[in-house]
Amino acid sequence: MKIIRFFSLFARTGCLILSHTMDDTARQQEFRVQKWARGQARAYPLWLRLIGWMGYGRMMRRAIAGLPHAPRDVLDVGTGTGAATRIAMEAYPGARVVALDLSPEFLEEARRQGGSIRFVQGGAAALPVKASFDLAMSFGVLCHTADAAQVVREMRRALRPGGQALLWTRGRGPSGQLLRWVFPLTSGGAEFYIYSRRELRRLFEEAGFAEVRVTGDAHGVLVSGKATVQR
Ligand SMILES: C[S@@+](CC[C@H](N)C(=O)[O-])C[C@H]1O[C@@H](n2cnc3c(N)ncnc32)[C@H](O)[C@@H]1O
Repeated sequence: MKIIRFFSLFARTGCLILSHTMDDTARQQEFRVQKWARGQARAYPLWLRLIGWMGYGRMMRRAIAGLPHAPRDVLDVGTGTGAATRIAMEAYPGARVVALDLSPEFLEEARRQGGSIRFVQGGAAALPVKASFDLAMSFGVLCHTADAAQVVREMRRALRPGGQALLWTRGRGPSGQLLRWVFPLTSGGAEFYIYSRRELRRLFEEAGFAEVRVTGDAHGVLVSGKATVQR
């Protein structure tokens, strides 16, 4: 009996230590990303232009404007300088848009670019919102977050029944592999996480999304899913 109690205590302590380590990893990653973002916000539109040549803007526009139903309330998780936010506002005039980012500098840059948008500073792993959105979208953000499952769960939680999630992130193709290697060197040690299509599908299904669709190319993976029931 004593041996069983000892092993149970040992296992529970192990789990506790593990969960603390994971929390610390996520916190440290957020801290490093915020530090990286401080120096990047002003230059980011240039980077957007560069990846625009590779079809980034086209891919966002097609995904956002191609939804089966026009959303009334839109959440852009990790808005950066607001590229996806502006596309949503063009595609769905009258929609109420909330743009969230970890970085005050990126939010400031997005604000400077104009538009009637509500800006919120916050982290994707603990969205400071209620289940009140018809579209929760996130482009180029999951690669910066240490707990991808939690981010996808939060996007699911932010949606009303029938709401849609759209998420694009770097895949395991050449550009993802390159960034995984280069990003930590140029960002003061922030990690760059990449995912296969299968991993992303599983994250969405485990978060409770239905009608999960996964497409992709050499640069990244686009996932969509529908929130069918109230959680
Ligand atoms: C590569 S940019 C993408 C910006 C924009 N979505 C786009 O596609 O142009 C990544 C953005 O995600 C933000 N970000 C990174 N980690 C985040 C987190 N855990 N929570 C919220 N925003 C985060 C960064 O501050 C940055 O603005």
